[in-house]
Amino acid sequence: MSLDNLQKIRENFIKEIEEVKDLSLLEKIRVKYLGRKSELIDILSSLKNLSIEERRETGVKANELRKELADLIREKTEDLHYKYSLIQPSLDITKPGKKAEAGHLHLLTKVEEEIKQIFLSMNFSVIEGPEVEDEYHNFDALNIPINHPAREMWDTFWLLRNQKEIRNPKSEIRKSEKLLLRTHTSPVQIRYMEKHNPPFQIIVPGRVFRYEATDASHEINFYQVEGLMVGKNVSLANFKFVIEEFFKKFFKNQKIEFRFRPSYFPFVEPGLEVDIRLDKKSQWLEVMGAGMVHRNVFDAVRYNPNEWQGFAFGMGTDRLAMIKYKIPDIRLFYSGDLKFIKQF
Ligand code: FA5
Repeated sequence: MSLDNLQKIRENFIKEIEEVKDLSLLEKIRVKYLGRKSELIDILSSLKNLSIEERRETGVKANELRKELADLIREKTEDLHYKYSLIQPSLDITKPGKKAEAGHLHLLTKVEEEIKQIFLSMNFSVIEGPEVEDEYHNFDALNIPINHPAREMWDTFWLLRNQKEIRNPKSEIRKSEKLLLRTHTSPVQIRYMEKHNPPFQIIVPGRVFRYEATDASHEINFYQVEGLMVGKNVSLANFKFVIEEFFKKFFKNQKIEFRFRPSYFPFVEPGLEVDIRLDKKSQWLEVMGAGMVHRNVFDAVRYNPNEWQGFAFGMGTDRLAMIKYKIPDIRLFYSGDLKFIKQF
């Protein structure tokens, strides 16, 4: 009797499931055939009332049927899910798209690029140099001998490895290979002059490092653009012209005031600094050091100081960006704050 029933249950189930076209109906069928109150479960739970022989035969068959029905339900579910996904794709291509978040260049990178383009348009070449520098190029060759008080102008991050010093007995100049993070872009002046003959005009954009306290206009790592022009008749007048042209192109229609003021750097003579302010109410911000290349620097690179003259400058990229984009605190550039970065 039970075996006949099982056969009937199977036939009915197969008929119904073949016709089913949606998941909610399938769930109803599942409940009908495999739910707690289904005929099949009823048969299974009343096995205990049968004789041992019947129980064995019916039990095996009923359990096989339960497994078969469950498998068929699972297959049908997958089948319907697949069909649904074709009819109602989860990607609605008619919906307005979500904007992909694209990154963009950091403001300092943009400003550096702008500076490069301006100098390229004035026939300068763009040169790069190493961020890890040796003591000789960062200090000695720039006329800043060891124990010279001027070294205090650049608080230095020294690197511990490779603290070798090479002294050339024939030369006055020590060639120290002690390594440091360059404190300015000026060592690239030396590296360039060691390998090239004048006349030339170059700029050197790059990152520099100083072991000093930070405030609104000082960071421990920041960017500079070095400039160097060497020729037979290069003078401070040429420097003044180049820098005024640069300011005109960099600040475009923005009004700024600038001033040149005498200053001291061991590698130039005379030396000067350039300050900028937006108007009479705002404070002067020092944006660069500059001057005529010192003859000791030419000596170090074996140029004849009686034959060649040059001007050099080192401008603070961050400071120029602060003025142009009215940014009150240099530390914002390095904060990683997206609210700040996304504005530019
Ligand atoms: C120098 O670094 C010289 N090498 C510049 C130079 C080159 C002079 C060639 C003469 C000839 P100074 O330390 O003043 O000088 O730095 C140059 C510029 O870098 C400053 O005018 C300022 O704009 C910027 N600067 C200096 N220190 C910081 C700092 N901690 N944070 C941000 N910008 C700085």
